[in-house]
Amino acid sequence: MSAKLLGFAALAVAVGLTGCATPCMQHKECTVTTAYYGKTKDGVAVNIHTLQNKHGMAFEVIDYGATITAIRVPDAKGNCGDVALGFTNLADYETKSPYFGCAVGRYGNRIAKGKFTLNGQAYTLATNNGPNALHGGLKGFDKAVWKAQASKTAAGPAVIFTHVSKDGEEGYPGTLTMKMVYTLTDANEIKLDYTATTDKDTVVNLTNHSYFNLAGQGNGDILGHLMLLNAEHFTPVDSTLIPTGELRPVKGTPFDFTKPVAIGARIGQADEQLKFGGGYDHNWVLERENGELCLAARVTEPTSGRVMEVFTTEPGVQFYCGNFLDGTLTGKEGKIYKHRYGFCLETQHYPDSPNHPNFPPTTLKPGQTYRTTTVYKFSTK
Ligand code: GLA
Repeated sequence: MSAKLLGFAALAVAVGLTGCATPCMQHKECTVTTAYYGKTKDGVAVNIHTLQNKHGMAFEVIDYGATITAIRVPDAKGNCGDVALGFTNLADYETKSPYFGCAVGRYGNRIAKGKFTLNGQAYTLATNNGPNALHGGLKGFDKAVWKAQASKTAAGPAVIFTHVSKDGEEGYPGTLTMKMVYTLTDANEIKLDYTATTDKDTVVNLTNHSYFNLAGQGNGDILGHLMLLNAEHFTPVDSTLIPTGELRPVKGTPFDFTKPVAIGARIGQADEQLKFGGGYDHNWVLERENGELCLAARVTEPTSGRVMEVFTTEPGVQFYCGNFLDGTLTGKEGKIYKHRYGFCLETQHYPDSPNHPNFPPTTLKPGQTYRTTTVYKFSTK
């Protein structure tokens, strides 16, 4: 090795960069860069935006579905890893994605039998999940090419996504005009700020569907991750994953994550709710006062020391632990995503709220602004 190379190697060790890919290196500046990513099958150009901060964290997001395609964060030893499941190309996102990393709407999660009534009028949606409507329908916001503007804001590098969903699209009433700001802060947070307005009464429930594996995407199942959910109740479901309407205490059930427990510790128990979900695929009722940003979850991965905290203004979070992953999808770096290789924490209003008057309402009226914030914060211990 030349003296110059040796010098670099010594420097890399000194600042803890060994094993780090370039985007995880300590940058002097926060940056956001935009590059061409690919063309959809309909010929629409899609860009990829890379946001990085000064603390070795970076994430990537594409205009298709406003999809987060990579999240690079250091582990406890400073080695970086990509903790988000995803693909290497647009065609895979278009044809086989189980909602990896994307924005979800107009109504995230399920609506029973694809039917709801608003102001006395009945609306019918496509049923794309057994008897129910799921995640906005056949062409939800995960399949839209969002307009994107990369920007350097006071809070950090950001991408501002906008999209207009037409009146009647996928069966929903009202023209919905949306803005989502994805920011990478200096505190190693991905901050998602959503706003939306409508010209007719409608229902809205927007979320992000990132799949995480804090040991690194593709590096085994997530059953050893320790999960804390800030929730004393969850919304039990029927066999098609529609809430019964009950808010059931988690105490004494495998749904109690009020103290950190390994995801896999109780997942095999003979419990009717776990049977219906094929594991955890349920909405937890977050402990909160009105609408302020509160801790929803804290997840710790013992081998890497990575920690992810989720904060949200939403009243609920769907904790889904990758029960439908079955080894048929190959993702980044040729990694095969087997059963439970990733988990999601989809911050949201409760599933099927339009059919449950006792749940927090999801109606948006003209003149009102839908406004929610969710933060995914990364650290180590
Ligand atoms: C949500 C649902 C799950 C599943 C995934 C996508 O988390 O609750 O049942 O549909 O999306 O595979």
